[in-house]
Amino acid sequence: MSLTRVLATLLFTAGIYALPRSKSTIEWKSCPALNKQIFEEIGLVGASFDCATLPVPLDYTDPRSEKLHLSLFRINATKEPVLGTVLYNPGGPGGTGAENLPYDGPKLMENMGGQFDMVSFDPRGTGRTIPFNCTLEDGSSLTRRGSEVLISTNLTDRFLHGGWDDAVSRADLCYATNNNTGRFLGTTFVARDMLEIIDSLGEDGMLRYYGWSYGSVLGEYFAAMFPERVDRMLLDGVVDPNIWKLGHRGNYLVDADAAMQAFAEECVANKNNCAIVNATGATNASEIFEWLNMLLEPLAHNVTDSEEGWEVYYATKSYIYSQLYWPSRWPNLAQVIVLASQGNVSADFGDTSASSEVYNHGPDAIDGIRCSDAVFQVSSPEAYLPQVEYQAGVSESFSDIGYEALWTCAAWMMPSKGRYEGNFTAKTKTPILLVNGEYDVTSPIQGAYNASRLFDGSVVLAHSGYGHGIIASPSRCVANYISAYFVNGTLPDPGTHCKLDLGPWEAANATAEIV
Ligand SMILES: *[C@@H]1O[C@H](CO)[C@@H](O)[C@H](O)[C@H]1NC(C)=O
Ligand SMILES: *[C@@H]1O[C@H](CO)[C@@H](O)[C@H](O)[C@H]1NC(C)=O
Ligand SMILES: *[C@@H]1O[C@H](CO)[C@@H](O)[C@H](O)[C@H]1NC(C)=O
Ligand SMILES: *[C@@H]1O[C@H](CO)[C@@H](O)[C@H](O)[C@H]1NC(C)=O
Ligand SMILES: *[C@@H]1O[C@H](CO)[C@@H](O)[C@H](O)[C@H]1NC(C)=O
Ligand SMILES: *[C@@H]1O[C@H](CO)[C@@H](O)[C@H](O)[C@H]1NC(C)=O
Ligand SMILES: *[C@@H]1O[C@H](CO)[C@@H](O)[C@H](O)[C@H]1NC(C)=O
Ligand SMILES: *[C@@H]1O[C@H](CO)[C@@H](O)[C@H](O)[C@H]1NC(C)=O
Ligand SMILES: *[C@@H]1O[C@H](CO)[C@@H](O)[C@H](O)[C@H]1NC(C)=O
Ligand SMILES: *[C@@H]1O[C@H](CO)[C@@H](O)[C@H](O)[C@H]1NC(C)=O
Ligand SMILES: *[C@@H]1O[C@H](CO)[C@@H](O)[C@H](O)[C@H]1NC(C)=O
Ligand SMILES: *[C@@H]1O[C@H](CO)[C@@H](O)[C@H](O)[C@H]1NC(C)=O
Repeated sequence: MSLTRVLATLLFTAGIYALPRSKSTIEWKSCPALNKQIFEEIGLVGASFDCATLPVPLDYTDPRSEKLHLSLFRINATKEPVLGTVLYNPGGPGGTGAENLPYDGPKLMENMGGQFDMVSFDPRGTGRTIPFNCTLEDGSSLTRRGSEVLISTNLTDRFLHGGWDDAVSRADLCYATNNNTGRFLGTTFVARDMLEIIDSLGEDGMLRYYGWSYGSVLGEYFAAMFPERVDRMLLDGVVDPNIWKLGHRGNYLVDADAAMQAFAEECVANKNNCAIVNATGATNASEIFEWLNMLLEPLAHNVTDSEEGWEVYYATKSYIYSQLYWPSRWPNLAQVIVLASQGNVSADFGDTSASSEVYNHGPDAIDGIRCSDAVFQVSSPEAYLPQVEYQAGVSESFSDIGYEALWTCAAWMMPSKGRYEGNFTAKTKTPILLVNGEYDVTSPIQGAYNASRLFDGSVVLAHSGYGHGIIASPSRCVANYISAYFVNGTLPDPGTHCKLDLGPWEAANATAEIV
């Protein structure tokens, strides 16, 4: 072992264990029944996890608050020596620890070098932690839609003719069903919950954290509120917190058209194995767009005629959008579209609203969390109209299906208690590492650069990935930087750029080989 390596190991060990280690107050137990339930619900066997609960204040603004029992989950490091625990939030918002840690954990752990235990938890609003559900006891509920450029419909029209009214009814319904607990949701209290967790782990009271997608927002709240507690923070698929807190997501779709273009180009580049080329003889991306638009045209035409017409259109486009998150699914996306064009709507086509997460509470939790963070509310549709007009211009292909769900936040009536509202500038003890792909359909890389300007010393590691986050776009180059960061605390040089290991069609083949 080289001297520098010995020194690095010693320094790192000192970093974690210099303080007398407090005894862990978390009692981990094996929980085979929940392991079995989750694996059955998702239909895959993931990594085995242990379970615990941790009592934390339900209301951090009230010293006499009753306790909330947070559900915690842990998978063990795969390599010795174990260097500590990394907390993981899988995004959404609305994603649960129980359902995501066993599946995402092993891949993330490999990226980090295998020497960290990983702990996740069900954030407020999800799983068994204040489940947020806006269905009335009698079972009634507002139906929620669904979920070169594609044909689009007029977002402003939709807003003025029913869209805003739906948003208000939905906010009303969530208030009527959750007014007792709705104000204890939101990212600020979840950041405080994370502080309670790291204080109970029996380590050094420092946060080591891996946040993906909305998980980047949670990391940013924590970093801004408790900068001196940040030992490692990796944010992947990054959202600008100052945009997030407004609730209307600004230009989050700004790279979505580029992602759609990439799909069409990759299809042509893999012409022997892309069903669309096979079925149409298309020779370039514009011909693919032409053909897709020919399919969408009649659906778009039907949107103004009936609510059902809108639902069919919305489901179709949302399906295409959702598959852009996962490049390894692109060959399948092409296949599904061809089948649909032949009148064969295969089982998963259009089914983007149904969550595979049975343990979770679907779209309600998403609203419960993001809307209680949102500081921007209006009392009339006129006041929100400028936002809608802005939203309509962000993505020519996807703005029409990408913003409506966010309007609910502008009518929300349960702002979270003790809310942190910015401005999110901080100097963290260890600088933050931000990772982002250049074609991310939902977290454009601009969000990572914006966030990086807020946190002293932080670095953006860019990669050429098409999907949402490095789980969707594996890259050995990115993984090496991540493990160097977690193990040694070293950051890549600003401006570092990584390539992916596999293109979409190769990744699909590789996935098929594993299964
Ligand atoms: C994780 O490691 C602990 C001991 O460090 C052990 O008691 C526990 O059974 C392990 N859990 C799993 C799921 O392997
Ligand atoms: C969309 O609808 C709005 C309101 O009905 C209208 O003012 C606007 O011109 C329309 N936009 C386009 C591009 O047709
Ligand atoms: C508050 O919630 C309770 C049910 O928890 C409901 O009965 C009541 O009507 C709600 N209040 C308002 C003002 O919506
Ligand atoms: C191409 O089309 C033929 C005939 O329809 C079909 O048998 C084959 O599976 C298709 N290949 C791909 C990659 O879609
Ligand atoms: C795509 O291919 C068609 C048919 O060969 C051709 O007419 C068209 O100019 C091409 N478009 C582009 C943008 O290259
Ligand atoms: C348009 O709507 C009508 C009535 O809802 C329906 O019968 C028809 O199939 C729809 N057309 C398309 C292309 O979906
Ligand atoms: C629809 O496509 C699926 C998947 O390729 C196939 O199994 C099924 O037989 C097709 N159904 C019809 C009616 O063509
Ligand atoms: C939400 O509440 C309703 C009414 O109590 C219940 O039927 C439904 O199963 C709940 N949904 C979830 C996802 O827990
Ligand atoms: C954020 O707040 C800090 C402290 O209040 C202030 O010094 C800083 O200028 C602000 N930064 C921005 C970008 O507004
Ligand atoms: C980045 O910041 C600028 C300036 O605040 C803002 O206009 C833009 O929407 C932000 N981008 C993203 C993706 O959040
Ligand atoms: C950590 O630093 C040591 C010493 O420079 C190096 O040998 C080792 O490969 C680094 N570990 C990782 C995971 O990059
Ligand atoms: C994927 O697998 C198919 C079938 O084995 C093969 O024809 C194709 O060349 C592979 N594609 C890539 C990009 O490796």
